[in-house]
Amino acid sequence: MNKTPIPAAALPRRPLMPKNPARGLTVLGIETSCDETAAAIVTENRAILAQALLSQKDHDIYGGVVPEVAARAHLQHLESQIKAALTQSGLGFADLDAIAVTAGPGLIGGVLVGALMAKTIALVQDIPLIAVNHLEGHALTPRLSHPVEFPFLLLLVSGGHCQILIVKGVGDYTRLGATVDDAVGEAFDKTAKLMGLGYPGGPAVEKMAARCTDPPAALQKYALPRPFVGQDNCDFSFSGLKTAVRRAIEQLPAGDIRPSDAADLCAAFQITVGDILVDRMNRAIDRYLAIHPASPTVVVAGGVAANQSLRHALEQLCLAKGCAFAAPPLALCTDNAAMIAWAGIERAQLGLIDDSHFIVRPRWPLDPDAAIVSPKSQKV
Ligand code: KG4
Ligand code: ZN
Repeated sequence: MNKTPIPAAALPRRPLMPKNPARGLTVLGIETSCDETAAAIVTENRAILAQALLSQKDHDIYGGVVPEVAARAHLQHLESQIKAALTQSGLGFADLDAIAVTAGPGLIGGVLVGALMAKTIALVQDIPLIAVNHLEGHALTPRLSHPVEFPFLLLLVSGGHCQILIVKGVGDYTRLGATVDDAVGEAFDKTAKLMGLGYPGGPAVEKMAARCTDPPAALQKYALPRPFVGQDNCDFSFSGLKTAVRRAIEQLPAGDIRPSDAADLCAAFQITVGDILVDRMNRAIDRYLAIHPASPTVVVAGGVAANQSLRHALEQLCLAKGCAFAAPPLALCTDNAAMIAWAGIERAQLGLIDDSHFIVRPRWPLDPDAAIVSPKSQKV
């Protein structure tokens, strides 16, 4: 029997019609690509009817996500998250129009658990299935939280990815730049690990930076590198920053890092990252506006978009450039299943339904030109 997956584009594109027109398409989303075991139910009227999410804590002691530990935890907890989402929403499987599940990129053990669960429910309950690219989930989230129209310029910043894309439509992405080494979330996580602040590092670094009493002085005290800043491209590099943080820690007096030093170093790191993102986005906005002057909209998505100081820096940049700025609420920045359900809804509206043979992928770039960059999909 031929098991070759049918590309979505080759399937008939009849928009999926809702069972309940008043509610609109109602989709169960499942997310298991990293260390969040999540299920959510979302409607095409932008209502999040239910969100169940378990952030796995077992990785904290390792300072990063351990793929096998994550996969086992997804297997243990996914069913209860789905049941919790159904209970919260007051709906049953029969009310669902589709199931959307992350099919990659990510830690493949976890992705397999989610995909198999989705395929099983779809088969037994006879519900259409939609295989979602996790990055497309992040990319389309601003359209769930805000009335953002295509096209828009996207800064996607997460634990495994750092890229700038023009989003022209569902499945239609052009990359303007990307990291040549580490993702920005990875830089936050490694900085936190070096300072013994735990995992995930982003929120811990942000919290510690907030305790800095004199950020400009902290920036002088720790002059960290800003790779690519000022150069005529939209790429990023964060591995040197991580090395500089390690060297700065090595220069500190032996013993435990003093809280004031930790606060200063975290603040210097966070401001430096903000400066890098603003410089890169400044260039990207110019390039984007030269192509799409009539749609001056910039959005930021992904886990690092939860950082208040980075959001503020980007907001100020957009104000200066005359662009509208949108960032999802914090809970929709880090991994969640509502974003997967929403991406599923956007695909279902275009008739992009998958069949049960869909494959899972550890790497799955959004844009066709991404082959030269290979962000790490494993985070330890
Ligand atoms: O999108 P996400 O939840 O998972 C991936 O798809 O990678 O992003 C997780 C990343 C982690 O590296 C985490 O440290 C970072 O997002 N992060 C933050 C903040 N909250 C999460 N980074 C900076 N500031 C935050 N408040
Ligand atoms: Zn993510």
